[in-house]
Amino acid sequence: MDFKSQILLGIPKTLPALKDYPADSNRAPKRKDILSKEEKKLAIRNALRYFPKDWHKELASEFADELKTYGRIYMYRFKPDYKIYARPISDYPNQSLQAAGIMLMIQNNLDPAVAQHPEELITYGGNGAVFQNWAQYLLTMQYLATMTDQQTLHMYSGHPMGLFPSSTEAPRVVVTNGMMIPNYSRPDDWEKFNALGVTQYGQMTAGSYMYIGPQGIVHGTAITVMNGFRKKLKEGEEIAGKIFLTAGLGGMSGAQPKAGNIAGCITICAEVNPKAAIKRHEQGWVDVLCKDTDSLVERVKLAQANKEVVSIAYLGNVVDVWERLDKEDIFITLGSDQTSLHNPWAGGYYPAGLSYEESNILMVDNPESFKSKVQESLRRHVATVNKHTAKGTYFFDYGNAFLLESSRAGADVMATNEIDFKYPSYVQDILGPMCFDYGFGPFRWVCASGDSADLDKSDALAAQVLEAIKENAPTEITQQLSDNIKWIKEAKANKLVVGSQARILYADAEGRIKIAQAFNEGIKSGHISGPIILGRDHHDVSGTDSPFRETSNIYDGSRFTADMAIHNVIGDSFRGATWVSIHNGGGVGWGEVINGGFGMLLDGSHEAEVRLQKMLFYDVNNGIARRSWARNNEALFAIKREMERTPSLKITLPNIVEDDVLDELF
Ligand SMILES: NC(=O)c1ccc[n+]([C@@H]2O[C@H](COP(=O)([O-])OP(=O)(O)OC[C@H]3O[C@@H](n4cnc5c(N)ncnc54)[C@H](O)[C@@H]3O)[C@@H](O)[C@H]2O)c1
Repeated sequence: MDFKSQILLGIPKTLPALKDYPADSNRAPKRKDILSKEEKKLAIRNALRYFPKDWHKELASEFADELKTYGRIYMYRFKPDYKIYARPISDYPNQSLQAAGIMLMIQNNLDPAVAQHPEELITYGGNGAVFQNWAQYLLTMQYLATMTDQQTLHMYSGHPMGLFPSSTEAPRVVVTNGMMIPNYSRPDDWEKFNALGVTQYGQMTAGSYMYIGPQGIVHGTAITVMNGFRKKLKEGEEIAGKIFLTAGLGGMSGAQPKAGNIAGCITICAEVNPKAAIKRHEQGWVDVLCKDTDSLVERVKLAQANKEVVSIAYLGNVVDVWERLDKEDIFITLGSDQTSLHNPWAGGYYPAGLSYEESNILMVDNPESFKSKVQESLRRHVATVNKHTAKGTYFFDYGNAFLLESSRAGADVMATNEIDFKYPSYVQDILGPMCFDYGFGPFRWVCASGDSADLDKSDALAAQVLEAIKENAPTEITQQLSDNIKWIKEAKANKLVVGSQARILYADAEGRIKIAQAFNEGIKSGHISGPIILGRDHHDVSGTDSPFRETSNIYDGSRFTADMAIHNVIGDSFRGATWVSIHNGGGVGWGEVINGGFGMLLDGSHEAEVRLQKMLFYDVNNGIARRSWARNNEALFAIKREMERTPSLKITLPNIVEDDVLDELF
């Protein structure tokens, strides 16, 4: 059966044969066995809802087996036989071009070249799921292939609830992931309700179909690393020959070595999972592999002597690297960590002293003992980082809950006031004040024709737009614009594409709107050969409330609220988004963040032009307004400037209180 017919079929009419799993596949770790006997029966009853009665007996024992072996029911048997990747949009059966664009994005998120654990429908971050099981995938694709522009598909944590009548102006898809009653958002609640098959962890761009491979984070990481060095180095000192030490070569963290190369330093990146490290090496995202600390030290010294721009993967635990480089007295200018500490007890962080295999066994056989090993390792990890920072290293939290989990583990990571951490998050020091408060964030697009020539043309259009904006830009944002112009001009040469023909570019509201307009014009005139899908990372100005990351530089006490993210998703949905999503969890962990995003298909039409203006304007300025109300100077500057340009924008501005008014009150 051809691809289109299989998509239209949804769940097959006859029970497909059992499958062998691809031997080289990077499988998700076994999940916690958390359900009681009765709850396990409920999980199987839930899973069987997708299938006709006469399959129930056979599938019930198979699903019980999956639950026992993997801790979840993935319904492996129903994984389709066709290749899953972002095909040209014209390959998707559809009655709605917008829905076809969403199918392309879903398939990109599940492409084995892109996804971390494709068999388990996990795109990145260890547990960032597109769907909970293959039945949900099959049904969703069928709905998308048959729906019209008068319908909206509502997605409940991977489950397609169904098509509801709506209108051409409405989003085609509304996605929620992991939305819980607030009291049910502890890590074990995710384990339990995910095992029951009623919710999932959508991460940020996994469950919203907007992941574009590690490129999505290379740009943000390059900006962070470059500005981290700018903060640390003295006037005239150069980055060449200086060291950036970090960990993780997974979905997102795999971008670090490439970003280090773009910034021009020596990057050392430790990775305990050899499969992950080798994959990044083969893809050319990291230059050198070192299997032990002796060869690592030798290679680092050589790179320092030659002021080489090079990225080195160490196959092992990052704690061993920090400790060894301290012993060797090798100075680390910039340090961070991007292990998956948002998910510390289920394979996100591998403790020092245990091999990768030993950890994988212990976390299942004895979760309590594994937890104490992780906490012991975090205390050791922080102790060695502290030794380096005492010598002058600039260490920052990379949005993975490293400081939060270390503090919970009792590591020496608190500042003297016992409220703050010793070290800043990268958003507090770098991305918040320099990017988000001005509206700069990770705008992205995908050329739906699948033609790389379209991507080249879109890069050129975006560069032209930014250069024109820079001519009259205020000094406050010229550094940002220059960095982004350099990025987009070098993007092709940096070979960033994995999966769909996608590009990321930090831009503010003005930049995003003008770039989108140029694309829409290009599609209309035929200069670009197919539609372009716009989106962004959720890690942005407005979409995400996350007190230890995106909103960590909000100091009016509101960083523990999530009003901004909710307004964002509602506001985008009625201003023209093609799809919208809102998630609990993502980045720093389940219960720790509410994050949302959108996708928008540009087809060269007048309607697309209207939609992009309305929606992109709100999507960025919502966050700047909130940041300005929190008294952030850069956001106050940006929102006042926007109000001058846009008379119908009226934002409530704060009156700044002098310190002496409060001095002797209590
Ligand atoms: N800063 C950002 O902009 C940003 C963006 C996205 C994600 N994140 C966060 O970064 C983290 C990593 O994301 P990801 O998608 O790369 O996750 P991932 O799980 O794909 O990769 C993390 C990698 O760390 C490795 N690892 C774990 N413990 C280790 C240890 N002690 N030593 C060496 N390697 C170890 C794992 O084997 C894994 O490959 C997540 O918490 C994520 O939420 C940050």
